[in-house]
Amino acid sequence: MTDSTYEHHEYDVLIIGAGGAGLRAAIEAGQRGLKVGIVTKSLLGKAHTVMAEGGIAAAMGNVHPEDNWMVHFRDTMRGGKYLNNCRMAELHAKESPERVWELEQWGALFDRTKDGKILQRDFGGHRYARLAHVGDRTGLELIRTLQQKVVSMGTDVFMECKVLQLVHDAEGRIAGCVGYWRATGEFVTFQAKTVILATGGIGRSWKFTSNSWESTGDGHAMALWAGAKLIDMECVQFHPTGMVWPHSVRGLLVTEGVRGDGGVLRNSLGERFMFNYVAPMFRAETADSEEEADKWYDDHNAGRRPPELLPRDEVARAINTEVKAGRGSAHGGVFLDIASRRSAEFIRRRLPSMYHQFMELAGVDITREPMEIGPTCHYMMGGVQVDADSEATIVPGLFAAGEVGGGMHGANRLGGNSLSDLVVFGRRAGIGAAEYIEAGDAATSFDQGEVDGAIKEALAPFERTDGGNPYDVQHDLQELMQDNVGIIRTATELELAIQKLDEFTERVKHVSVKGSRAYNPGWNLATDLPSMITVSKCVAMGAIRRKESRGGHTRADFPNADPELGKLNFAQRSEGGHWDSPVSVHEASILIMPAELKALLEEDQ
Ligand code: FUM
Repeated sequence: MTDSTYEHHEYDVLIIGAGGAGLRAAIEAGQRGLKVGIVTKSLLGKAHTVMAEGGIAAAMGNVHPEDNWMVHFRDTMRGGKYLNNCRMAELHAKESPERVWELEQWGALFDRTKDGKILQRDFGGHRYARLAHVGDRTGLELIRTLQQKVVSMGTDVFMECKVLQLVHDAEGRIAGCVGYWRATGEFVTFQAKTVILATGGIGRSWKFTSNSWESTGDGHAMALWAGAKLIDMECVQFHPTGMVWPHSVRGLLVTEGVRGDGGVLRNSLGERFMFNYVAPMFRAETADSEEEADKWYDDHNAGRRPPELLPRDEVARAINTEVKAGRGSAHGGVFLDIASRRSAEFIRRRLPSMYHQFMELAGVDITREPMEIGPTCHYMMGGVQVDADSEATIVPGLFAAGEVGGGMHGANRLGGNSLSDLVVFGRRAGIGAAEYIEAGDAATSFDQGEVDGAIKEALAPFERTDGGNPYDVQHDLQELMQDNVGIIRTATELELAIQKLDEFTERVKHVSVKGSRAYNPGWNLATDLPSMITVSKCVAMGAIRRKESRGGHTRADFPNADPELGKLNFAQRSEGGHWDSPVSVHEASILIMPAELKALLEEDQ
């Protein structure tokens, strides 16, 4: 027990984050008889999981019987440009189908084939139609299903609780965390034998993003400060299709399901420009004329892919190039056209959210007109380094699953592989935590000094009267990251970003906030900024070290992939454990791939 005067709770397994990974971990740990608590700074049911709209990738072979885990593994590794942790990619490909069937048993209402199986749709980089889906609301259905299960199990869920910092025991094991209630500003401590981070991504550090206010990299940053390693932080995914107009919704996701269901990309000249960007590696599988692509739409067995279904990194770069070359739309995007290719009935049935989104927000009827779209910061491939099988970090008692975990997706994630990642590795983190507790080496004490230090720092902005405004720092950070650590990077821009981020660190130390602690958004932001700055620095520092272009990381000054760098992850550690401590970057060899997996990559299916 702590001698804390704050509200205090105790659990076997404490899960931070209530998206798909957190909920799936909670179910697993709960089913193993453990006392589980979930803490979320948002509301139950509201997570970036819902932004994976188009589907969950799993090689069930319902539409293409020739699909199997081996092809899914190969696609995932190819998509990740071979930087992936191959064991994670293997587990993911093997276990995804079971996780989808389990969701169905728990009540998820997937769309069906004519003979009653779960329907699967096409997505970029997947050899076969592989995404189980619920129209274009798959993430929402996944969250709804898991949430219902968690609630039915009687799991404690603490909403609107912002976690500030992880807490260790005297031996350096993870022992819980300290946070505050957004509603009252009162502090709370959670003591736990294990903590599973399931906090999602970091997208709020960019100006144009599909991520909502929660995605401030809290889990990435807290893990780093607590002694864990981050890997592949330079690998950030810009989804090719976000809304670009109206300005107030710029960045909002337009699902890849539009392209999966037949939508095509055109520039301001009306050209289907993606034909000009087909990379040699995919040429054999990709249609090389509009006629070929049309044939593919009519008969999927033609075995050719339309170029709009290249992996996301390639499509996003192509759009960027078209806009820069002056062939963009009025608001700096290009056009996504499904109206001329599919019936209005088909579009409304398959893509109901997109139909409403454009109608309500932009006054555009997508059954008649093209959508104006452009790349938007969507997903973080980099994250906390974990053991592939158990999701354990190098800090005893600390686990990570979902977007906050690193390794699974390498340099670029394939669409649909995120929802399956959440349930495969969420479940495995629940098992990993249970086994750690069973081994009997969990923390027994709780470092009150760490709690007091975190609370003192959180309150400091109220004591300053003449400091800067946290919103100004956030604004400048988002501009900086968008302009200098975006889709295309150069050493000059990255160096500038790192220098500015050091300046922002000093600014954060001087921000001041007014008012009370109850529902004070300025204060809430002030407590998010240390994470946002930390993860932004990690991205820029990783990006400057990776002197090549690979997946989501493109260097204009190093436009090609370097085979030697393809053998390395860049791992980062905090040298001091405080949010403003220096971060070091180290080279780490990627996991050696066993011969039987290597053989799968060589097969040309
Ligand atoms: O485009 C989408 O529906 C997003 C899916 C994903 O990120 O996996």
